[in-house]
Amino acid sequence: MNISDSDSNSVSIERVVSLGENEEDLIQRQEPSLRPMSFDDYPGQERAKDNLKVYVGAAKKNDRVLDHVILHGPPGLGKTTLARIIANDLGSSFHQTSGPAIDKPGDLAGILAGLEAGSILFIDEIHRLSIAVEEVLYSAMEDFFVDILVGQGPTARALKMPINPFTLVGATTKMSLLSGPFMSRFGIQERLEFYDKNSLAEILKRSAHLTNIAITDTAAAELAQRSRGTPRVANRFLRRARDFADFHDRSGLDFESVSITLDRLGVDSAGLDQMDRRLLVTIRDRYDGGPVGVETLAATVGEERSTVEDVYEPYLLHLGFLKRGPRGREITDLGYQHLNNIETVVRDNS
Ligand SMILES: Nc1ncnc2c1ncn2[C@@H]1O[C@H](COP(=O)(O)OP(=O)(O)OP(=O)(O)O)[C@@H](O)[C@H]1O
Ligand SMILES: [Mg+2]
Repeated sequence: MNISDSDSNSVSIERVVSLGENEEDLIQRQEPSLRPMSFDDYPGQERAKDNLKVYVGAAKKNDRVLDHVILHGPPGLGKTTLARIIANDLGSSFHQTSGPAIDKPGDLAGILAGLEAGSILFIDEIHRLSIAVEEVLYSAMEDFFVDILVGQGPTARALKMPINPFTLVGATTKMSLLSGPFMSRFGIQERLEFYDKNSLAEILKRSAHLTNIAITDTAAAELAQRSRGTPRVANRFLRRARDFADFHDRSGLDFESVSITLDRLGVDSAGLDQMDRRLLVTIRDRYDGGPVGVETLAATVGEERSTVEDVYEPYLLHLGFLKRGPRGREITDLGYQHLNNIETVVRDNS
């Protein structure tokens, strides 16, 4: 059993736009101030944020325990960050674990028994809980008790052990894998969306300020445009751009230096990296534009199906470059156009 500050991460592939949370934890430890600690310090996600502010505010006002919360959406959009902000705003203690870290029902019962009243239990990758563990959560979430088995064999008895009222905050990139009964126990369900450019630029300027990097407005806008709507990616590109500027003895980040950095990272004008483009090109050239099944597509580009589904596709769908139909994936007109544009740029430059 593991309640800790470090997240485990299901996405451990090497690519420009992904950052293993282990690496991120390391960076956060060096630069701990980057993670916003309050709603006001967290740009973007206005709908989810406004809703949560209301629910948290109402719980505080009436001295009620906040209803259980599920935060879902693609990686790196700020689910863990929001969970911490909820706990901070409530003034509650924050306990963090993850689906794969809880092996047995008894492990979870132990965690639940140790919670003080009103605390937040954050379970990351909550879709990866085993069914047996999930079932322990049902009574805990609904009526604040856990069934424990006392004794062994024929004399074993089930005991209802009361636990302190608490709030479960779950995070998942795969909401569709949660069972109906489980989902219905979360009174508050918020989906995080890709960030618009203005919010990302704001996040970038905030991060630059906190880490003493001078950045022009046009440089922040360019980074924002090419950070696939994801703060984790934006912060990562900011660090790479800083490395580039440091190496070349430039004092700050301007449009030119961030453009060169992103070009070198293989990130194009829409924020796509090599693998995103390979997916689109494969559908276009090998499968005549599609439809092609995701399993086949993943095998052709040499990726896990779940990685294609969880990491690459959401942004391609968001941009409207890809369509998901009953018979598989298809490239859209916008997708064709984007490939044409970047292929023209490559031809013109060579
Ligand atoms: N609204 C925001 N403002 C500023 N920084 C943000 C915001 N949202 C996320 N970040 C930063 O982006 C990084 C990723 O955020 P976080 O770890 O909360 O994402 P996540 O949704 O939990 O990702 P995963 O699905 O991989 O667990 C963190 O370093 C965090 O500080
Ligand atoms: Mg997280």
